[in-house]
Amino acid sequence: MDHPPERRAGVADADLTGTTALVTGSTSGIGRGAALALGRLGADVVAHGRDADAGAELVDELVDVGSDARFVRADFADVDAVRDLADETRETTAELDLLVNNAGGFFREARLTDLGVEYTFHVNHLAPYLLTNELLDHLAPGARVVTTASEAHRSVTLDPDAVTSIGGYSGWTAYQRSKLANVQFAFELARRLNDRGSAVTSNALHPGAIPGSGFTRFLPTPLSQGAKLLEAVPGVTSVKDGAAALVFLAVSDRVDDVSGRYFSKQRQAEPSRAARDHEAQRQLWERSAGLLGIDEPLGQAGVAEGTR
Ligand SMILES: NC(=O)c1ccc[n+]([C@@H]2O[C@H](COP(=O)([O-])OP(=O)(O)OC[C@H]3O[C@@H](n4cnc5c(N)ncnc54)[C@H](OP(=O)(O)O)[C@@H]3O)[C@@H](O)[C@H]2O)c1
Repeated sequence: MDHPPERRAGVADADLTGTTALVTGSTSGIGRGAALALGRLGADVVAHGRDADAGAELVDELVDVGSDARFVRADFADVDAVRDLADETRETTAELDLLVNNAGGFFREARLTDLGVEYTFHVNHLAPYLLTNELLDHLAPGARVVTTASEAHRSVTLDPDAVTSIGGYSGWTAYQRSKLANVQFAFELARRLNDRGSAVTSNALHPGAIPGSGFTRFLPTPLSQGAKLLEAVPGVTSVKDGAAALVFLAVSDRVDDVSGRYFSKQRQAEPSRAARDHEAQRQLWERSAGLLGIDEPLGQAGVAEGTR
């Protein structure tokens, strides 16, 4: 049956009127599906991506369902663009009830960003790390931060000191490491928020393996189109299922007070040992600040400023 994500997440009766969500990577795939579901439930939505036409189309659809929606274009490989996205979100919304860190992808070619950081790590981890920390003081009490990771995070470790090198690059390994970073980031954020008495929660999820999303865009066109056809095959995780996993963590009262957890679709799951390693989480957090040349967020200094 073709139920929308909010129904698949068991939250079709939720009323999000008066709340605001920023969904990164909502021009396509599961982010788009989640943004529309949140809009239908009454949330105002800040949509994000790089494709301005897709962004405008999404905003039209959101406005049609009554959402006060806007699109902000930002390339996540560009530090200034991420800061501008945070600024624009702050300027155009009273506060954020929901931050969905979902933008990301698989990138086949080895390259460094202008910051001198491996591209996949930068786009998939460093950008949401910066965005989240830029928006900490804009999060409503009890806001939720949801980060799209992946089961692909398993079977790798991450040396945050090695992310400025692309020697021996493998696109898949880089993707795996960036998704491990997503889980470690979500957990470290949860702990630092909790330590400061903040009611803001932070969780990570695997949305399912979803051939019908835009995720396969790195493949040659016939293969990418072929993957999309699988969307219709019974038993295959659909874009709506993946969007539902995001919507579940973003909205369901079953996860109201849950923070620092990893979900596989809509079920809590244990992530890899490396993902659970506190020391690795702390090192990633500190090294990420170092790469960006910023003070460590939610560190010893500036505590009161960053949380409520
Ligand atoms: N599909 C799967 O099987 C699967 C499995 C596990 C996890 N995930 C994760 O799910 C998330 C969403 O992916 P999806 O499957 O929905 O794929 P998708 O349809 O390709 O969506 C990816 C979104 O991220 C945005 N994005 C990509 N690179 C960007 C960049 N450099 N700067 C700014 N935005 C960028 C895209 O925006 P533009 O197109 O406008 O650039 C798009 O809105 C990703 O984090 C992915 O790693 C997917």
